Amino acid sequence: MRKLLSLLLVLSLVFALVACGGGEQASTENDSQEQASTENAEAMPKIGVTIYKFDDNFMSFVRRAIEKDAKDKAELVLNDSQNDQAKQNEQVEMMISKGVKSLAINLVDPQAAATIISKAKEVDLPVVFFNKEPSEEDLASYEKCWYVGTDSSESGVIQGKLIVDAWKAHPEWDKNSDGKLQYVLLKGEPGHPDAEARTKYSVETIVSEGIQVEELELQTGMWDSVKGKELMDAWIAKHGDNIEFVICNNDAMALGAINSLKAEGYFEGEKFMPVVGVDAIPDALTQIEAGLMVGSVLNDAANQGKATVDVSLNAAQGKDILEGTEWKLDDKKAVRVPYLPITLDNIQIAKDCYSE
Ligand code: GAL
Ligand code: CA
Repeated sequence: MRKLLSLLLVLSLVFALVACGGGEQASTENDSQEQASTENAEAMPKIGVTIYKFDDNFMSFVRRAIEKDAKDKAELVLNDSQNDQAKQNEQVEMMISKGVKSLAINLVDPQAAATIISKAKEVDLPVVFFNKEPSEEDLASYEKCWYVGTDSSESGVIQGKLIVDAWKAHPEWDKNSDGKLQYVLLKGEPGHPDAEARTKYSVETIVSEGIQVEELELQTGMWDSVKGKELMDAWIAKHGDNIEFVICNNDAMALGAINSLKAEGYFEGEKFMPVVGVDAIPDALTQIEAGLMVGSVLNDAANQGKATVDVSLNAAQGKDILEGTEWKLDDKKAVRVPYLPITLDNIQIAKDCYSE
């Protein structure tokens, strides 16, 4: 019966091939092709990946890294969740029905981890969350689930130190000479562990270094360049030169703020405004080189993408998730890729991260 079935399968493939103009010797060729593709399917497990939205600047680099690292190793089923958690939940169900061997999930809403975990648990499927960290409880609730990302607070501390160094090196930036640093802060998505930690720790680090601060504005620009520009437009109109520092939870918003400042005549002649971000994406590096941005914090997209592929591939193959890798798991079942301060002095490190 089995033999008959496979014969029928081969025959139907031959027909399909001939129909597509595959040539006369299809029969023997096809036998080996079929075998190769079966072997391929075993060697290249299907991994279901979601990105919370494709048009997030930084995540587009993580996505590229994932695609590059999965090449010839896994078959990716890649989804744009379009910033819609309900859509992502459906995508997860769809991927499960397509027979993926593991899931790599960049949540839309960090609170939704439990929903995804329960779907995966039902079919005993491993889940690797990346970039948006689920709560400790959620991660602990399922043996076959892990996190790949960073230590969010580290980016805030590094950014804070970067601000302190620059502020101390430039006494003239205290424009009203009151000894205080008057700042505006563009925050990422509220409730996102990175946004919360960066906001908290960057300011706390400045204060812990003995610098007094005054918050003029703090609002969310949702990681987005256009929103960052709109907010900055409004803040310049309201506070003008009383603003002494622009602190941004990521580079996309910093780039938006820089556009707004440029339109107001900043960065020409003596008119200057210090701006810092996080991610160290190529467009930000260009601004650092041009002297329009004080610095950024490298959020290592290449290694986060690589770790995501390594771990979810091992999981898909039922191996120990760290097998053959140099990653380490912490006590929360997380692989954390380190952040790095980036200024003009060491900009090459960040550039190298983005050169293939
Ligand atoms: C952060 C990154 C932001 C944004 C966010 C999305 O790590 O710094 O730019 O991409 O992830 O979750
Ligand atoms: Ca001041």
